[in-house]
Amino acid sequence: MQSRKIGVLLGGLSSEREVSLRTGEAVLTALRERGHEVVPIYVDRDVDVALRQEQIDVAFIALHGRWGEDGCIQGLLELLGIPYTGSDVMASSLAMHKGKAKELFRLHNLPTPAYYTLTAAETNDLAGVHGDFGFPCVVKPIREGSSVGVAICQSLDELGPAIERALCFDDEILVERFIAGKEVSVAVLEDRTLGAVEIAPRAGFYDYANKYTRGATDYFVPPRLSPERYRGVLAQALRAHMALGCHGATRVDMIVSDSGNEFVLEVNTVPGLTPTSLLPKIADAAGISFGELCELMLAGASLATRRGNGERRVIQRTFIGEDRREAAPNTH
Ligand SMILES: Nc1ncnc2c1ncn2[C@@H]1O[C@H](COP(=O)(O)OP(=O)(O)O)[C@@H](O)[C@H]1O
Ligand SMILES: [Mg+2]
Repeated sequence: MQSRKIGVLLGGLSSEREVSLRTGEAVLTALRERGHEVVPIYVDRDVDVALRQEQIDVAFIALHGRWGEDGCIQGLLELLGIPYTGSDVMASSLAMHKGKAKELFRLHNLPTPAYYTLTAAETNDLAGVHGDFGFPCVVKPIREGSSVGVAICQSLDELGPAIERALCFDDEILVERFIAGKEVSVAVLEDRTLGAVEIAPRAGFYDYANKYTRGATDYFVPPRLSPERYRGVLAQALRAHMALGCHGATRVDMIVSDSGNEFVLEVNTVPGLTPTSLLPKIADAAGISFGELCELMLAGASLATRRGNGERRVIQRTFIGEDRREAAPNTH
């Protein structure tokens, strides 16, 4: 294990390049500190050449967004026969496409806000398309992350410009019912939940600025929910992870509405991994250090084409945090 050469794939071509660089550098440092042989692989259009030259044994994907989180790089790694962290080609592309992901959530009876999708060709008659869908609603490019191009609209006057802006990032748009409530993000690792964080921006919603500006958002680990509600949220998140066929670490974004219903927004297959990102925060509260988390993610690296067909996955009923707490007295 220790003799494997690990390539941390970072940078990339998406709008989340900057975030990816931070994630990748944090992972690189953590794995090096733990004695691994690690090289950075800065991803651009020549990534195939870099991958061949470096002769890595395993890839740690620290790329966010298009081409890095959506199955593209995963497909290249499958072709090259290099095991990689996280979800395979299919799960990555399903999770990245918010429309397809929501279709699967519905198929699996997972509550997700009502929505419709539209393309640039359908924007001539917005009033007709929107019909009685109502306000407020949320406009999102169908395949983005980090809240890039996301806007909350209170009226038809706001809808047009929001859709126009979102269309700068993708040619298909998701318009979703706004859910007022507590925003909660759940960490899943190898088919078990690690815990969750409640996200409370001081102003507005959890947009790009509130995600990456220090002090702009308050975080609560665990979320301020009743124990029953908390368990329910963790269970739904795990079902969302499984519904898309995800592997490794994911973070499931959810909202617990003011009336007490849970909604799944999306599953992130390459969650942010700086020491202050949400997944490491949750892991830390479960007794897993940042270095250990990277190590656990690395241990799960594989090739889907070598995993074999007909693999049956069973949802684990225990939570990693609980295991740790239970194990604690014996380890001293
Ligand atoms: N239906 C919704 N109701 C209320 N807020 C929402 C809704 N959808 C998204 N948001 C807000 O927008 C943010 C980004 O949306 P999300 O679907 O998670 O996309 P991204 O991939 O950009 O993170 C969420 O974290 C939340 O603050
Ligand atoms: Mg999100």
